[in-house]
Amino acid sequence: MKQMCLGIAAVTILCMSASMVHSKDKASGEKTFKAKCAGCHGADAAGKPAMKSPSIKGKSADEIQKIVSTSPKHSGLKSLSADKVQGVAAYLATLK
Ligand code: HEC
Repeated sequence: MKQMCLGIAAVTILCMSASMVHSKDKASGEKTFKAKCAGCHGADAAGKPAMKSPSIKGKSADEIQKIVSTSPKHSGLKSLSADKVQGVAAYLATLK
């Protein structure tokens, strides 16, 4: 019985820390987005026709990583860390 309680406590702690990391990602992702992406993709990520930039709402970390390392439009962003890319993806996932 004692072991089961310990098990439940461990799972609870794991879940709590996982969700905390997630929301931290999102907040720092929003900062990264506003600093590095909003200028071209718009404050709401809907894209800007004048810049010929598409909407990037809901783009995954994989898609962002790929575009940032291959597209000449994003050549200034190659140094973006994987963490930051994950954060931006977490933030974009919250936009509808
Ligand atoms: C200098 C302006 C500029 C900046 C800054 C910029 N983008 Fe872009 N982005 C574009 C343009 C223009 C396109 C479309 C042409 C292309 O893919 O190169 C694009 C395309 C994309 C695409 C592909 C969308 C699709 O549907 O194919 C993604 C994903 C993307 N950008 C993500 C980002 C993220 C994330 C950031 C910030 C870290 C960012 N961009 C910053 C101009 C920009």
